[in-house]
Amino acid sequence: MPESTTSSTRSSPIDRSEAGWEELARGALADWPDYELLDFGEGRRLERFGPWITDRPAAAAAQPKADPARWSLAHARYEGSRGGEGVWRRHEALPDAWNVAWRGLRFELKLSPSGQVGLFPEHAADWAVTQSLLRSAAGKRILNLFAYTGGATLAAAQAGAEVSHVDAARNMVAWAARNAELSGLRRAAVHWIVEDAGKFVRRELRRGNAYFGILLDPPSYGHGPRGESFQFARHISALLQGCLDLLDDEGFLLFTSHTPGFGPRRLTGLLHDLRPRLWQTGRVRVKTLEIPAATGRALPCGTLVAWWSDRCEERLSPRSVDP
Ligand SMILES: C[S@@+](CC[C@H](N)C(=O)[O-])C[C@H]1O[C@@H](n2cnc3c(N)ncnc32)[C@H](O)[C@@H]1O
Repeated sequence: MPESTTSSTRSSPIDRSEAGWEELARGALADWPDYELLDFGEGRRLERFGPWITDRPAAAAAQPKADPARWSLAHARYEGSRGGEGVWRRHEALPDAWNVAWRGLRFELKLSPSGQVGLFPEHAADWAVTQSLLRSAAGKRILNLFAYTGGATLAAAQAGAEVSHVDAARNMVAWAARNAELSGLRRAAVHWIVEDAGKFVRRELRRGNAYFGILLDPPSYGHGPRGESFQFARHISALLQGCLDLLDDEGFLLFTSHTPGFGPRRLTGLLHDLRPRLWQTGRVRVKTLEIPAATGRALPCGTLVAWWSDRCEERLSPRSVDP
């Protein structure tokens, strides 16, 4: 089994697609006027979403704050642990909802009872990579599981893909559809599906469907619309197997984990056990998801597992590296 976290085992003279990946991932966060991670530390993250600054929990922010003076700028602070037991203390000027943009996509944000705001900025790198992988692949089918408010769905739709957007929560799917409308993508080819991710994948397999690209961002615990239980540790292997069976040999897979104990090494092993052939037919990349902060440090936000086929290599080549 490959050991390294960047686990592409084949050597090419210069790994152009991985360099391209890095360039896209960096640019997705660095060239984003509406978002900034200002600082993190002592279990919290200080972020600017458009004009508004939030201060909320971040389990991975164990070290001291780098810029303690800045934290008094927050317009909203989530107090209590994440997961619905806390409460937002907010500046009276902060509106109930506001919009931010990412490269022409628009997202409605609001302070949710769980301490979220409706956008996971760490996924912007995936959006940029998805759009690049969809270059000259308009009309390709994309599956977005645990799709939340639709960041990856909208990025793929903007690039011309036909997207199946699957989430268990009806209100989340409605929120994502609102974001599509805000982004001028109301008529895009998106199938809005309220369904349990595992059930949907099994049904698609029975129907003999296939997808060029699959993105999945499962929570540690969740449930389907009819109470179907999802536990990452228990169900991820079968779910990933189903996704690999649905995946086009010439496409790509982007999979993220936020579950303790499922870091780069374990996920590399899992993928290798399920489909060792992936290492022969394309590139596998397993890395820590990070958001660079204004202070120069980076906040870890989970683990990303990516596979892209040999046919996709050229689409990730950086403009800055000569052949
Ligand atoms: C995107 S994940 C959250 C992952 C997040 N990045 C984190 O840090 O935990 C949450 C989404 O998964 C959805 N979800 C939870 N269980 C599900 C299930 N069994 N099938 C489909 N969607 C589910 C939720 O409705 C929510 O929109």
